[in-house]
Amino acid sequence: MTIIAHQRCIDPDCAAEFGVDRVLTACPGCGAMLDVVYDWDRAWPKADRSFEVFERRGSTFGARNPAGADSTDAALDFSGVWRFRELLPFWMHAPNGATDIVTVGEGRTNLQRADALASELGMDTTAGGRVYLQYEGYNPSGSFKDNGMTAAFTHARMVDAKRVACASTGNTSASLALYASMTGIPAYVFVGEGKIAFGKLSQALDYGARTLQVAGDFDACLARVREIADTRPDVGVYLMNSVNPFRLEGQKTIMLRILEGLNWNVPDWIVVPGGNLGNSSAFGKAFSELRELGLIDRVPRLAIINAAGARTLDRVVNGLGVTWNGGRYDKAKVAGEFERMDREGERAKTVASAIEINRPVNLPKALRAIEVMNGVVRVADDETIVEHKALVGRFGFGCEPASGASVAGVRLLRAEGLIKPTDTVACVLTGHQLKDPDVTVGYHRGERTGPNVHANAPIPVADDLDAIVRAMLA
Ligand code: F0G
Repeated sequence: MTIIAHQRCIDPDCAAEFGVDRVLTACPGCGAMLDVVYDWDRAWPKADRSFEVFERRGSTFGARNPAGADSTDAALDFSGVWRFRELLPFWMHAPNGATDIVTVGEGRTNLQRADALASELGMDTTAGGRVYLQYEGYNPSGSFKDNGMTAAFTHARMVDAKRVACASTGNTSASLALYASMTGIPAYVFVGEGKIAFGKLSQALDYGARTLQVAGDFDACLARVREIADTRPDVGVYLMNSVNPFRLEGQKTIMLRILEGLNWNVPDWIVVPGGNLGNSSAFGKAFSELRELGLIDRVPRLAIINAAGARTLDRVVNGLGVTWNGGRYDKAKVAGEFERMDREGERAKTVASAIEINRPVNLPKALRAIEVMNGVVRVADDETIVEHKALVGRFGFGCEPASGASVAGVRLLRAEGLIKPTDTVACVLTGHQLKDPDVTVGYHRGERTGPNVHANAPIPVADDLDAIVRAMLA
């Protein structure tokens, strides 16, 4: 059979290649991360390459949402991931090709032009400055993770995985649990006790995943689930965290939907919160591939926003000056930073529990994305994150705390002058407003420290007509 896709070690001094039939979480030779790479000329011949094919499929909006996980052409066109299937063609190696794709109608998200918010952030909307909000919370499980899970479950089914597992700050587990229940593959999720917002935990429980509340944080959960995947073939789990290179293939399509929403014009900036750095990595890969395919001639800049209490990437990039350097990045400096954190007992702590992560596993790929997209890394403290989350609620459709970091990042970069008032900026809002209602209600009730500029507390009132009218008009 013609080889269209394979897995390749990202370390240029190794660059070992493996078939897509292998289940790997790292290069078996050198331990570096893996990419899924393609023979583009075979997968998508030059003569057929254009954004138009996606455009035609996009016009099937309103099609019946296919129930379950079976794929037909209509189901694939309905999916905001598989509408772009030429750009993640590893599925061509599935026994039955496209009919083996696992989809539940993910990626039907929208890109909202948010002028009022843009003005708040210091953009000049009258001179063409734009802020767009890419609502990934509109996915079936309420976060961007579904983009990745649909791809990873497609691969899991290709290799006949018997069990799937992940560590999670919440959204990965919700998404995994949903796809597992749709495909009937038994699911195991590892969450840090007390480290996960209730909306997310409720989903994993509802969808029937076996949920292990580990007495530790996200990093501890991830280390354990990797250990089980790597050393316990008797348990036999297929790992669904973003070290799985197939997941990132699906997450690339978030960028395609932004381009589509902008009529295939490339924005000046993509702004995204940084946790485990899967998104950042996937975005960099998307743009380097689109350029290689000749579909774009310009790449947007990337801004990755860490929470101040979980700023490992910021320390590595801005503090230690580590760059991708063609794949020969300073591994000793990164390891030294991890050791320093351990030695000093520094543990990630942020209200944005989704990104409360010490050792982002995709850090090498994120360094590469920063190079490809001329990226920057910034931090936002908890107060600022919550305040900007409230702004998205006030002027947009709302998001969860971690997503607010990207909007906070726009204000920062605008103030620095790096984002110009006339730029076009796309903020990825990674999770739905309802994921973490505790933080939102706490903010509006004034239970948090900080300026609470947009706090909108509920008003207690007696069950009395006059009192109610007074309260309404006060
Ligand atoms: N925003 C939300 C809402 C998230 O759930 C996550 C990650 C991120 C941002 C960070 O994305 O890892 O690609 O940099 N949540 C993971 C989880 C870790 O387990 O749900 P990243």
